[in-house]
Amino acid sequence: MTKAMSVAAKTKQIVKKHGNDKSGMIAVLQDIQETFNYLPKEALKAAAKAMKVPFSRVYEAATFYTAFSLKPRGKNIVKICLGTACHVRGASALQDKFERTLGIKPGETTKDNKFSLETVNCVGACALGPVVVINTDYHGQMTMKKIDKIIDNINKEGAQ
Ligand code: FES
Repeated sequence: MTKAMSVAAKTKQIVKKHGNDKSGMIAVLQDIQETFNYLPKEALKAAAKAMKVPFSRVYEAATFYTAFSLKPRGKNIVKICLGTACHVRGASALQDKFERTLGIKPGETTKDNKFSLETVNCVGACALGPVVVINTDYHGQMTMKKIDKIIDNINKEGAQ
């Protein structure tokens, strides 16, 4: 089975789970992203076919929401909150630190595919600022030291 076929087959299953209907498009896209960590073009094409909508419609939805990524992402997604509450508590210094440590800028993925860096505006945990979300874990009151520890742990464990 080629990679493209398996992406399409997996996507078909996802669309089916959501009733093979275009009304579930956003949930379908969320599921596809959860499965592949981004939205592969083959998956969008397969989803459009299965939901019987033009590819442009699915592509439009995929590009409209910033939560969706059309580019492959690393196994661990680091999201630095740059919202006001986090910003005043030093979020940009934390961003610098992540950029230097991982050697990538927001929107990029490390060569070993382990980390992708992203910035977001408020993740709804302002009281804990500055906040960094790694995959689904919220890390509040983030410090330079904590960053080293977290990255070290992930590197030791391999993919989370
Ligand atoms: S501003 Fe960072 S969680 Fe709200």
